Amino acid sequence: MTYPIYLIGYMGAGKTTAGRLLAERLGWHFVDLDDAFHEIHGLSPADYIRKHGLEAFRRKEKYVVEDLAELPIDKVIYATGGGYPCWEDNMECLKELGTSIYLRWKPEHLAERLSLTNLDERPLLSGKSAEEILEVILPQLQERSPYYEQADHIIDAPVTDDAVLDGTEDEQMADILYELIVEN
Ligand code: S3P
Repeated sequence: MTYPIYLIGYMGAGKTTAGRLLAERLGWHFVDLDDAFHEIHGLSPADYIRKHGLEAFRRKEKYVVEDLAELPIDKVIYATGGGYPCWEDNMECLKELGTSIYLRWKPEHLAERLSLTNLDERPLLSGKSAEEILEVILPQLQERSPYYEQADHIIDAPVTDDAVLDGTEDEQMADILYELIVEN
């Protein structure tokens, strides 16, 4: 496996939470690329999109990822923004830069998880119930899945179809990621 590691997946997939736990366990660096974007551009991705539009955001986001990849450290876990892999040749870039891992969830579980978070930073979803969030997710996930599924590895969320989420999923995901990395 080549480093760094890029965690990819839809909003609410746990890229940040599982990624941070994983990095702690490995003793590696962790970088949330949405936070890096905020530091570099002075606006969160949501505010930047509100102010300058999605296209401008995607262009800047691309450079944030590529610029940080120039850093002379490779033991890094990056949590990418949910839409990053699905723009232009970004998925190919990730493959050249390191190893990509898709955290794959069923849309119903993503909707449930997202409905429990603060949605202010997710303007498309704010104020919506889990059911309404699902209506937004379904077509978007269908569109994005072919990109996500080009990842070097795919990890399915540790939850069966009808199981109720119990809040330990991110820790379990971090355990699975840890095993994958130390074995490869
Ligand atoms: C986006 C996801 C966000 C952030 C931006 C756009 C998307 O990141 O980059 O608001 O298009 O799915 P997270 O997946 O970390 O929430």
